[in-house]
Amino acid sequence: MSDSQFTIAIDGPAAAGKGTISKAVAARFGFAHLDTGLLYRAVGRRTLQGLEPIAAAQALTPEELEQGDLRTAEIAKTASKVAVIPEVRAALVDFQRAFARRSGGAVLDGRDIGTVICPEAEVKLFVTASPEVRAERRYLELSAKGSDITREQVLLDVRERDARDAERSAAPMKPAEDAVLLDTSDLSIESALAQAVEVIEKARPAKS
Ligand code: C5P
Repeated sequence: MSDSQFTIAIDGPAAAGKGTISKAVAARFGFAHLDTGLLYRAVGRRTLQGLEPIAAAQALTPEELEQGDLRTAEIAKTASKVAVIPEVRAALVDFQRAFARRSGGAVLDGRDIGTVICPEAEVKLFVTASPEVRAERRYLELSAKGSDITREQVLLDVRERDARDAERSAAPMKPAEDAVLLDTSDLSIESALAQAVEVIEKARPAKS
């Protein structure tokens, strides 16, 4: 590891707080942040537009991650369907690994960062929360954007996506053996973040 390379892998199910924690941690330590879910969502969107998922993954450009709203319920569902395809996952590995090892430090959040993409990451967190708490958070996010989806439907979607992500054979969602588990069900954003920062501080090389 060069002095300026430091990778933080943050995995966990949808709406557990990974995104919020990752962004805040990246800002605090001055690291770059990659939400790897966006890669699968961009492939999902291309698939909804009629492209074949493997071809879409192989042709994906970083610019696509910035275009339009990828955070819709329909794209999330399609993302988790294309994410079971090993060739789709394989096409996205190099980009993620290069990002993880950029100089200046990197935070990647997803489902398989600590297990498959960066098993050598200096810090691994697995952020989780009960399905009900996660569904409520996602429901509030989607309704704030004007979606008319119901709470019940969001809970069903969350459970369906959890099952697909955890049970697939290619890079299933699971904590790495050496990941620190952080259950945010009963935590405020501030306490969850404080716990994440504590874990990271412990792993940072001491400045001489
Ligand atoms: O994190 P987000 O909800 O945006 O991810 C959308 C979907 O992309 C997930 O449900 C999962 O199926 C897939 N994904 C994945 N591996 C990652 C990140 C996301 O399989 N590292």
